[in-house]
Amino acid sequence: MDKPKHILLIIGGGIAAYKASELIRLIKKSGMTVRCVLTESGAQFVTPMTLAALSENEVHTTLWSLKDETEMGHIQLSREADLIVICPATANLLAKMAGGIADDLATTLLLATDTSVLAVPAMNVRMWQHAATQRNIEQLQKDGINVMPPDEGDMACGEYGPGRMPEPEALMAEIASLMGSPFLTVPGADTDETELGANPLAGQPAFAPDQHRPLHGKHVLVTAGPTREPIDPVRYIANRSSGLQGFAIAQAAAEAGAQVTLVAGPVHLPTPAGVMRVDVETALEMESAVHDALPADVAIMVAAVADWRANTKAEQKIKKKGDAPAPLELIENPDILAGLATHDKRPGLLIGFAAETEKIAEHARAKLAKKRCDWIVANDVSGDVMGGTDNSVHIVTDTGSEIWERMPKSDVAQKLVQKISEEI
Ligand code: CTP
Repeated sequence: MDKPKHILLIIGGGIAAYKASELIRLIKKSGMTVRCVLTESGAQFVTPMTLAALSENEVHTTLWSLKDETEMGHIQLSREADLIVICPATANLLAKMAGGIADDLATTLLLATDTSVLAVPAMNVRMWQHAATQRNIEQLQKDGINVMPPDEGDMACGEYGPGRMPEPEALMAEIASLMGSPFLTVPGADTDETELGANPLAGQPAFAPDQHRPLHGKHVLVTAGPTREPIDPVRYIANRSSGLQGFAIAQAAAEAGAQVTLVAGPVHLPTPAGVMRVDVETALEMESAVHDALPADVAIMVAAVADWRANTKAEQKIKKKGDAPAPLELIENPDILAGLATHDKRPGLLIGFAAETEKIAEHARAKLAKKRCDWIVANDVSGDVMGGTDNSVHIVTDTGSEIWERMPKSDVAQKLVQKISEEI
């Protein structure tokens, strides 16, 4: 297992500091670890005790602690981090950073670090708009610091304008993207916490009112990943599907406002925000989870379902006997996609995927007819598509076909969701 990603969170002195507590909870929930540095003025707004309890780590407040300098010096604090987040970043902290001033623990470690830094400014609108602050922001961006623009709205000081700290979910999305994590896990996104029918947008950064999202009110069913067909207690038949494309489609559909059920084979991917995930292992389990999730307005069958399974699963590990290999009798798995096409609760729009290495459109068209679905998204898997981050696809429908040149799987997902929205 990879070591969990680690965030060093610097909390400056501003009323928005209280949001840092929620951010710590979200970071921990996403599987990352977090350690806090609290500035002297930050401690006027939140206590080290709160941060220590939430982060389950010691909170660091001063440069002049001999114990810390021997056991966990300021250099080590930043070195162990994959990302340093300053939240809230006050005008004063930003000014010191831009000027290279190091007069406390936070500013010293920021000057001493070569780790990526995300600054989340939050301050009064006039302080934000002041020429000095804007000059400092420009300088920090030139210096390679990531600056998250503040939100606009009513402020704690009674004024209105830009300067408000974004909500913790939006901060978490920014952190996940800087960490190169394609998906964001937030509370409510886990299988055990999300129920079908619950608000699918819970925890998502708001980007449009619900009713303006093109798939608002629609139920979208997605299958993703491989299936794993057991041979005996330790062996199985599987394939190289990473699940990335299916998860990206589930995420894009949820962002478009849909209620999404994601039936996932065994993959190590976090659940996209607002998605109801059902984990399965075998093709038979996947088929039954898909049927349980009906009715759906749209079904997108991205999973690389194993075509075959072992006829019997040996109860004990199969042992070598002499030179002859153990016989393995295979039987065909049900075709989940084709089964949906003739189901009495057939989704209004049924989309299959196909993996092809040659004659892509031609093979896809044959598959469209054979499986009686509405569209086939054919992957060109002649290169490094399986497990890779990019995809190039042919979309084949009854009326024609189109080619989408190589692009990130997340872009394929968004384009596909866009096309689905136009269709329904
Ligand atoms: N599919 C399914 N159930 C199966 C097999 C496939 O639902 N038992 C779905 C996949 O999720 C995908 C499409 O059918 O949407 C792929 O069909 P498949 O015939 O497996 O195509 P390829 O993987 O391209 O395989 P081949 O070209 O060997 O037929």
